[in-house]
Amino acid sequence: MTTGERSPPGAGLAAAVREVADRGRAGEFDLRSARACDLAMLLEMLDDAVRWLNSRGITEQSGTDAFSVTPRRVEAARRWVESEGAVVAERDGRAAGVMVLGEAPDHVPAPEQPEVYVTLLVSSRYPTARGAGAALLDVAREVTRARGVRQLRVDCYRGGSGALVRFYRRHGFAPSDRFMVGAWPGQVLALLVAEATSPG
Ligand SMILES: CC(C)(COP(=O)(O)OP(=O)(O)OC[C@H]1O[C@@H](n2cnc3c(N)ncnc32)[C@H](O)[C@@H]1OP(=O)(O)O)[C@@H](O)C(=O)NCCC(=O)NCCS
Repeated sequence: MTTGERSPPGAGLAAAVREVADRGRAGEFDLRSARACDLAMLLEMLDDAVRWLNSRGITEQSGTDAFSVTPRRVEAARRWVESEGAVVAERDGRAAGVMVLGEAPDHVPAPEQPEVYVTLLVSSRYPTARGAGAALLDVAREVTRARGVRQLRVDCYRGGSGALVRFYRRHGFAPSDRFMVGAWPGQVLALLVAEATSPG
C-alpha cells in the first residue's frame, strides 16, 4: 500500500497492461485486468494486510484502522480497481494479489525519464498466495518494457526494520529518493529494465 492516491495512467499504459495481462500467466499465478466489481475483493485484501501488519507489530505503515472504514481510502480503492493500470493475480480462481500501475504521485520527485510507477501492490495472506507480490513485480517489468520505457519506480514505507525496502531490493530495485509525508518516512526505489532485443 502507498500513502498517495492514483494519478491517471499515461497514454499507452492501458495497452501495455492489456498486452501483458492477456498473456495470462505470471509464474504460478493467472493474470487478468481488474474490474469495477473487484472493489469488495480489494478492500478485503487491504483490510487483511492491515491486520497482518498489525499482528506483526507494524502499526505505523498503514495505521490500525481497516481500509474499508475510511471513505477517502474506499474512494481511492474504487479508483484503483477502475484504473486501466490495475492487474489481479489469481490462484485457483481466487485473488492472490493486486497491483496498480500509473504515474508518480505528487509526494515523490518527478521522474527524470519516462517511466511506469507502481501505485499499489498488495497480496492476500492465504498460504498459496505467497509470492503473488513478487510475480506482479515481474509483470510490472514486462509492462514497462511493453510500454517502451526503461524506468520502473515504486515507493514504500522505510520505517520499522526496513523490511519493505529490503523486499524491493531483493526484486532488483535500488533506493533513490527519501521523502516524508508528515511523520511517515517513505523511500522511492527504481529499476531500469533491459531494452528489448530486436529479433534477427
Ligand atoms: C509486499 C507484498 C505485496 C509482497 O507479497 P509476496 O510477494 O506475496 O511476498 P510475501 O508476502 O511473502 O512478503 C515477502 C517478504 O516481505 C515481508 N514483508 C512484506 N510486506 C511487508 C511490510 N509491509 N513490512 C515488513 N515486511 C514486509 C514479508 O514478511 C516477507 O518476509 P519473509 O520472506 O522474511 O517471510 C505483501 O507482503 C503485502 O501485501 N504486504 C503488505 C502490504 C504492503 O506492504 N504492500 C507494499 C506497499 S509499497
